[in-house]
Amino acid sequence: MKSSIRILAVAAAATLAVSAYAGGHNLVTPDINDPVTLRINIMQNVGASAGLVSAMMKGTIPFEPLAAQAALVTINTAALGLSGLFPAGMPENMRSSAAPAIWTDAAGFKAAIAKFIADSDDAKLFPPESVEELRDAFSVLGGNCKACHKAFRIKR
Ligand code: HEC
Repeated sequence: MKSSIRILAVAAAATLAVSAYAGGHNLVTPDINDPVTLRINIMQNVGASAGLVSAMMKGTIPFEPLAAQAALVTINTAALGLSGLFPAGMPENMRSSAAPAIWTDAAGFKAAIAKFIADSDDAKLFPPESVEELRDAFSVLGGNCKACHKAFRIKR
C-alpha cells in the first residue's frame, strides 16, 4: 500500500516534469520516413528523463530507485539509437538544431555518441541505490549533453 502510494507520487511528479518540459517546446510528430523527426523526439525523451533525474537530485521529488533507473535506461536507449538518425544529404529542416559539424566532423560526432553509449551503459549496469549514487552517475553522464550540444548543435 505504502509503496503503491509512493509509485503514484513519482508517476505524478514524472508527468509534471514531462508536461513542464513539453510545454516549453514545439512537439514534432514522429514520421517513420523522416529521421529528423525521430531524433528530435528521442532527444525530447532524453530531456524528460534528465528532468526527472534532476528533480530527484534537487529533492523536489523523492529519490525512487526504479524511477531513476528507468530514466537512465531511457537515456541509454536513446544513445544506442542515435547513430543511424543523422543521414547526410537530407533537405534542410528548419526545426532541426543539428549542426553541420555532425557531417563535416563525422568521426568526432561518432566518438561523442560512443561516449554517450558507454557512460549511459555504466549507469545502467550500476543502478543508483541512493540519491548520492544518482548524483555520481549523472555527474558523468550529464557532461555528455553539454559537450555534444556545444560541438554539434546550433541555436535556431
Ligand atoms: C552525441 C551527441 C548528443 C548527446 C550526448 C546529447 N545530445 Fe541532445 N541533441 C543532440 C543533437 C544533434 C540535437 C539536435 C537534433 C536535431 O534537432 O536534429 C539534440 C537536441 C536535444 C534537445 C532538443 C530537442 C528539440 O525539441 O529540438 C534536447 C532537449 C536534448 N538534446 C537533450 C539532451 C540531454 C538532456 C542530453 C544528456 C542526457 C543530451 N541531449 C545528450 C545531440 C546530443
